[in-house]
Amino acid sequence: MRRLSAAALLIPLCLAAAAAGAAGDLDRAIGAALFKRAWVPAPSSTRANDGLGPLHNARSCLACHGGMARQPVRLDEAGVVLGENLVLRLSDREGRPDPVYGVQLQTSGLPGVPGEGRAVRSGSGYAARDLAYGPIAPTTRVGARLAPALSGLGLLEQVPESAILAIADEQGRSPDGIRGRPNWLSAPDGSRRLGRFGLKASLPTLAEQVEAAFELDLGMSTPGRNRPAGDCTPAQPACLAAPTGAEYGKPEIAAELVDLLTHFLAARPAPEAKAADPAGSALFEAIGCAMCHRPSLPSARGAVSAYTDLLLHDLGPELDGGATEPGVAPTEWRTAPLWGISGTIAGGAGLLHDGRARTVADAVAHHGGEAASARARFRALSPLDRERLLAFVSSL
Ligand code: HEC
Ligand code: HEC
Repeated sequence: MRRLSAAALLIPLCLAAAAAGAAGDLDRAIGAALFKRAWVPAPSSTRANDGLGPLHNARSCLACHGGMARQPVRLDEAGVVLGENLVLRLSDREGRPDPVYGVQLQTSGLPGVPGEGRAVRSGSGYAARDLAYGPIAPTTRVGARLAPALSGLGLLEQVPESAILAIADEQGRSPDGIRGRPNWLSAPDGSRRLGRFGLKASLPTLAEQVEAAFELDLGMSTPGRNRPAGDCTPAQPACLAAPTGAEYGKPEIAAELVDLLTHFLAARPAPEAKAADPAGSALFEAIGCAMCHRPSLPSARGAVSAYTDLLLHDLGPELDGGATEPGVAPTEWRTAPLWGISGTIAGGAGLLHDGRARTVADAVAHHGGEAASARARFRALSPLDRERLLAFVSSL
């Protein structure tokens, strides 16, 4: 473990992981341990690499991505969200963060730095309550997002950019008005990169998605996002002044730890493919679901049966997510991968970005905008064919 600078943290993790056996598995076992690790605030007895918060939503990745699966939203009788896996994002229509609360409502804070507020059920969506730093800006929109399942992400990273762009070209000629578009992200050097990860495809690589999670969800800095106070804003001076785990400008989370976690996630296999009913699959193609939910994408590691095109689509005002990210409309989403949806349904978690749909039929009912023609054809199916299609999708 010589290459690892974060020895104080890693030695106990290595000992725990040694049971994993073969040396090749060791890195992955450490990555798994980092995923589960409950981070602690700085300063603390364990010093190196701690520095949770000051504002944060949870203490570990696992708290939101339990079992690597999408988890149901938990509410108390008054409709207050209890678990951490549903987060509230805040932005104006153009994706600019709230001037006081930042990009995300962090529900927890360290002593002296109050948590920002709570998420509560409100109508058919969620709202922010008990705001600790005054009202949110009048132009700020609030939108809930549910932590997704984390399987097969390494495969999505392997799909060549050219294949994704070819799908966008094909869709551009679709008489249905399907117009998937790549989320181009501009790098500081002026080059552009294709976004693939996150519900709005706003992160280009798995490693950068991991860094974003440390910053927004845990309040910890990484080499790529070296802000030890995470999502604190200048309007939150106590947060900015709180102790951090960053020493001499070094990030709280060293590059090696980001790598280990990224490799662990990338190595997670795709959800197990089920024996699909060919008639259901044919209907899925025939009514146009497969235009966006691609049954197969090419990759150097073989076909990727993720049922996504990794492109953004505008699904209309019904799926307006409130908050958004720069360059992406509030109604635009990355086509949700459908692989593993049987596990999501079995686990009782809702579908769509905030879990609002209980069933596949319910999810389709929310598909407007570019997906309106497919929805109309779904509605026109005979009852028998509709059942076949729903059974097929629910089995993926
Ligand atoms: C407070 C809850 C929470 C915590 C803690 C959290 N996540 Fe997430 N995660 C989410 C939510 C919500 C999303 C969807 C965000 C989006 O893109 O809008 C997400 C998305 C992701 C994705 C993208 C998946 C995809 O399909 O593109 C990855 C990868 C991920 N998280 C990894 C992590 C890792 C690694 C950690 C720990 C460092 C972590 N998360 C901590 C809530 C959380
Ligand atoms: C124009 C592209 C497009 C078409 C056509 C389309 N979808 Fe979708 N679908 C999406 C997008 C984008 C999302 C993510 C929306 C969100 O998260 O709010 C999605 C989400 C879903 C989900 C929820 C998945 C989850 O894990 O939460 C299901 C189920 C689904 N679609 C099924 C279908 C079916 C069945 C059809 C055909 C009747 C269809 N879709 C047609 C783009 C499309």
